Amino acid sequence: MKILITGSDGMLGHDLIEVLKDNHELILTNSKSLDITDRNHVMDFIFENKPDIVINSAAYTNVDGCEENQETAFNVNGEGVRNLALGCRNIDCPLVHISTDYVFNGESTVPWVEDDEVGPISVYGKSKLKGEEAILEILDEFFIIRTAWLYGINGGNFPKTMLELAENHSEITVVYDEVGSPTYTLDLAKAISQLIETDYYGIYHITNSGSCSWCEFARYIFETAQKDVKVIPVTASEFARPAPRPHYSVLANKRWMDKGFKPLRNYKYAVKEYIELIK
Ligand SMILES: NC(=O)c1ccc[n+]([C@@H]2O[C@H](COP(=O)([O-])OP(=O)(O)OC[C@H]3O[C@@H](n4cnc5c(N)ncnc54)[C@H](OP(=O)(O)O)[C@@H]3O)[C@@H](O)[C@H]2O)c1
Repeated sequence: MKILITGSDGMLGHDLIEVLKDNHELILTNSKSLDITDRNHVMDFIFENKPDIVINSAAYTNVDGCEENQETAFNVNGEGVRNLALGCRNIDCPLVHISTDYVFNGESTVPWVEDDEVGPISVYGKSKLKGEEAILEILDEFFIIRTAWLYGINGGNFPKTMLELAENHSEITVVYDEVGSPTYTLDLAKAISQLIETDYYGIYHITNSGSCSWCEFARYIFETAQKDVKVIPVTASEFARPAPRPHYSVLANKRWMDKGFKPLRNYKYAVKEYIELIK
């Protein structure tokens, strides 16, 4: 297939390239070569290149930054996605779009399924929801993939931060009242590569299996990397950040499994492999 990837310099973009490059023709774009907020350029670019499918891994992902830069957040995560959807409709090609657990309010105690009511509590979540809504309004053939707590080779992320802190801290405080599913971008990219071979369009939750709090995640990272760091649990309210985060954002990968795909491996196996790779 001829696949157009936006935001290909990002963390997920990097692993999408790794996974797709051998079997597909890739058209790689980044924020300079294809700014998704530039509607005319997006429309022209898609029309001229005529991809078989577009994968949007571009986003404004700075969750706290979104609170301050609301306009940018809605422009990139909302209007940018609308532009891609319009471009895809123009040439009748499907769009794969990556969304987030932050479209939910976090007030559940059981894993969220795809049809659960959304209710984002941060600007980032609201802007990502706008992107989803634009796709639902414009396209019939799409994959909206909500994922969570990403980490990968090519970007800043929680495991990397923890390992950096371990270099000069013997104890650190980490939030314990936010629970989610850490997800390796390589595993997510592999799942996306399977999904795009099908016409099972719709909204999906795709994460590694299992769940933990940030605190448990940190402890597992230190244990795996054999770092002697004491993790002190704190509440999210004690650890003040500009954007509120959902307390419980575990995503049930229901539709993924209903379609016959295997659950992604437990996050612990993925984290172990990742730490081996970066240490
Ligand atoms: N990271 C997470 O924990 C997480 C969790 C759930 C869902 N997601 C979603 O997963 C997707 C991939 O996330 P990621 O962590 O791989 O993100 P990332 O590393 O921040 O990559 C996003 C890429 O988008 C590019 N970009 C920003 N504005 C753009 C624009 N106007 N036009 C074109 N490209 C633009 C960025 O380029 P510049 O650096 O040049 O701006 C960057 O290379 C995103 O949709 C994100 O919302 C992420």
